[in-house]
Amino acid sequence: MSKINWTGRAVLVAGIVSMGSAFGQVNNRKDTEFDNNKGIAYTRHNLTQRAPADATKTPNGSLMDAFRNNYGQICVYCHTPHGASAAVGAPLWNRTRKSHTFQTYAELGTVTLTQAISQPGANSLTCLSCHDGTTAVDSIINMPGSGNYDPAQATRDDDTAINAFLGTWVPGQGDTFQHMKLDADTSNPDSCLSCHSPDGIVAAQSFSTFAIGTDLRNDHPVGIVFPTANPDFNTTTGTTARGDVYFDLDGDSRMDKGEVRLYNTGDGPEVECGSCHDPHGVESAGPGSQFNATFLRVSNNGSGLCMTCHVK
Ligand code: HEC
Ligand code: HEC
Ligand code: HEC
Ligand code: HEC
Ligand code: HEC
Repeated sequence: MSKINWTGRAVLVAGIVSMGSAFGQVNNRKDTEFDNNKGIAYTRHNLTQRAPADATKTPNGSLMDAFRNNYGQICVYCHTPHGASAAVGAPLWNRTRKSHTFQTYAELGTVTLTQAISQPGANSLTCLSCHDGTTAVDSIINMPGSGNYDPAQATRDDDTAINAFLGTWVPGQGDTFQHMKLDADTSNPDSCLSCHSPDGIVAAQSFSTFAIGTDLRNDHPVGIVFPTANPDFNTTTGTTARGDVYFDLDGDSRMDKGEVRLYNTGDGPEVECGSCHDPHGVESAGPGSQFNATFLRVSNNGSGLCMTCHVK
């Protein structure tokens, strides 16, 4: 059963357009209204989309309540303390994993590539469970405090079944009509980009570059083995018990969030999305400071991130 209510959506869109102009929004501006410091709550990965303790800030998350379930908790869009997914080897993972195959960077066939590339590893699959645009951003297994739990949701492929379960959430803030995705196809009425793109039907910040898709040929390779004893690459200085390796900047023998890491996926240490990004945000200069842009573990000012691995 579809929960799409087109009449309702038209009314909402009209309301949003007028609110957008009341806030003096600039069309397709990329900078976020979130402060990007103090914690994940102040970043775009707060999918309740309410910047805490600052009611004057847009977004007023209720604007988005028609397009994804507002679970009222930040972590639950990705993690659950109980009833987590065993389909992805990621910490207490609460999200649906669809079963499609990705087009990898290897298929581009560049002359320079030397290392083996496999399908994205578990860490990359966590990001791609939203950023490949095939799964609704609110598609979780265990909804908070509601008793609404469906383990089958962990590996569901069928949107009708997924949305039927997501429709069991009874939000406090008003009805949710749709469970939207980061789909680059802006004509898909189920895509956040139907508004959040230059082609969007209202003036909203563009998320076009966030819609990575299932074709990874135009993205820095992931699922790729990190070379050792190769003069074109720096040598990692830390190893975990699991066999992940990292650049131990502070020499404390711990894989800290501000340190670039390679995940041991069974094929040896590999670059994954989390090699470069921490989805919770990383301070640029100690506690309380502004996060590195775009969730990067290391600032890329002067290409510092790239040159952590590459000798160039
Ligand atoms: C947008 C998705 C997302 C959200 C929201 C999120 N996390 Fe995570 N979290 C991840 C991913 C992905 C990993 C795995 C990182 C890795 O494999 O390196 C992770 C790992 C962790 C870990 C273990 C590794 C570490 O970084 O310490 C903890 C603890 C954690 N998250 C806590 C939280 C808490 C608490 C919240 C809410 C305040 C939260 N996370 C919100 C995606 C998320
Ligand atoms: C629960 C869904 C979800 C997961 C899982 C997720 N993201 Fe996101 N991410 C989003 C959405 C949605 C946006 C767009 C902004 C928004 O709606 O708040 C976004 C935005 C971003 C941005 C842009 C931030 C900015 O301020 O410009 C980056 C970078 C990013 N995500 C990287 C990642 C990486 C890397 C991972 C995995 C470690 C990840 N995301 C996992 C949903 C997710
Ligand atoms: C009907 C149009 C529409 C749809 C669909 C829509 N949004 Fe929005 N969104 C807006 C408008 C308008 C704003 C306020 C203007 C702005 O901040 O860009 C906004 C603001 C936001 C912001 C604040 C921007 C920032 O970074 O400060 C986030 C985050 C956001 N929306 C996420 C989402 C997500 C995630 C989805 C899909 C689940 C979604 N929106 C679907 C219209 C829409
Ligand atoms: C080798 C390092 C590296 C890897 C691996 C990597 N990223 Fe990024 N990513 C970056 C950098 C650097 C930026 C900032 C680009 C910019 O400022 O334009 C970025 C930006 C982004 C953005 C914001 C959009 C943009 O273009 O600015 C998203 C979303 C994102 N990455 C998601 C992912 C996902 C999902 C993966 C895994 C499939 C991934 N990244 C793997 C380095 C990486
Ligand atoms: C976590 C380590 C790491 C980081 C950080 C990193 N790379 Fe890479 N990069 C690799 C690996 C491993 C390869 C594969 C090398 C090979 O096949 O010989 C690679 C390959 C490449 C290639 C060659 C692709 C080809 O077709 O031959 C380019 C170009 C590149 N990276 C650019 C960048 C840029 C730009 C950045 C910063 C935004 C960056 N890398 C950050 C590990 C990294």
